[in-house]
Amino acid sequence: MKILILHTYVPPDAPSEDQDTMWSEAAVREAIKQRGHEVVSAPFVPELSELKALLDEHRPTVVFNLVESVNGLCELAPIAPVMLEKLGMPYTGNHAGTLSVTSDKTLSKEIMRKCGLPTADWIVPPDWHGLDEGRKYIVKHATEDCSLGLDDGAVVIGAKAVRERAELSKTLYGGRWFAELYIEGREFNVSCIEKDGKPMVLPVPEMHFYNWPADRPRIVGYAAKWDELSFDLDNTDRTFDAEEKEPELAKKLKDLVAATWTQFGMHGFGRVDFRLDAEGNPFILEVNPNACLEPNCNLAAAVNAAGLSYSDLIMQVIDEGLKCW
Ligand SMILES: Nc1ncnc2c1ncn2[C@@H]1O[C@H](COP(=O)(O)OP(=O)(O)OP(=O)(O)O)[C@@H](O)[C@H]1O
Ligand SMILES: [Mg+2]
Repeated sequence: MKILILHTYVPPDAPSEDQDTMWSEAAVREAIKQRGHEVVSAPFVPELSELKALLDEHRPTVVFNLVESVNGLCELAPIAPVMLEKLGMPYTGNHAGTLSVTSDKTLSKEIMRKCGLPTADWIVPPDWHGLDEGRKYIVKHATEDCSLGLDDGAVVIGAKAVRERAELSKTLYGGRWFAELYIEGREFNVSCIEKDGKPMVLPVPEMHFYNWPADRPRIVGYAAKWDELSFDLDNTDRTFDAEEKEPELAKKLKDLVAATWTQFGMHGFGRVDFRLDAEGNPFILEVNPNACLEPNCNLAAAVNAAGLSYSDLIMQVIDEGLKCW
């Protein structure tokens, strides 16, 4: 096969959360080469004639889609599969509709609510109707990921604090911000890959917060993901022992991931993030159809815990991409 990796254009001075795409690109390229296939890669330009010229030049068997944002916006990522479909080109991963719907956290929460998938209550601007004075909320971006704008200050109590935080975040980062009920308990980020057209849910990892000061919210904020020098990154880690120690919980989470996969019409690969409340009830925080494919990320670690290699993952994603056509 000849595989064209199509990736987000990342300027050399971009921050880590954007460089991340190029780390994935290097790993995917290496994995494809290892398996004896030809591989080329190119940045995505959101212009149909330019994409057509690129495909005509390389004539790939399939495009490996690593377009995670366009012009700095995650919500524009679906334009890549839209254009590839228009040009009749097979590609890997999720389709445009899934990427589009899940890029809006409040819309995907509405869908989850309607189809009975558990998700925490949420409140939206401009009227913020329903905010409860005594309750704790996390103020999140509706359409961006990578924990953009999430630090300790994002977790607030009461209506006034929510409004003030949303105003501040909007001023600093732009976009639409909403409030979600803060779920105090444990966190699980469960990955899934497609196998013969069906979801294959991978071993369940729990996120741990070590040495965490009691007065700090236990969240995987921006620093925990991207600041190599931070206490947060140093003191968060995942373990894969849920299946062995808590098989019922692991099964409950895996069943929810499979149901989410089906409801959102997912393909290729993805990840569903959960928190558990004090009684152990799971709540879906969000659905990630463009989950990170970098070898140190959750999905690759989960594949490894399932006894597969990174190149097995990449080849399976490619095989399933080809089968969709
Ligand atoms: N309702 C909540 N209750 C408790 N913690 C939360 C809640 N929502 C988000 N968090 C914390 O913030 C982190 C990031 O939130 P979320 O996954 O919704 O955003 P994201 O920026 O899209 O992240 P990703 O990088 O996974 O795409 C979560 O991993 C979790 O630690
Ligand atoms: Mg998340």
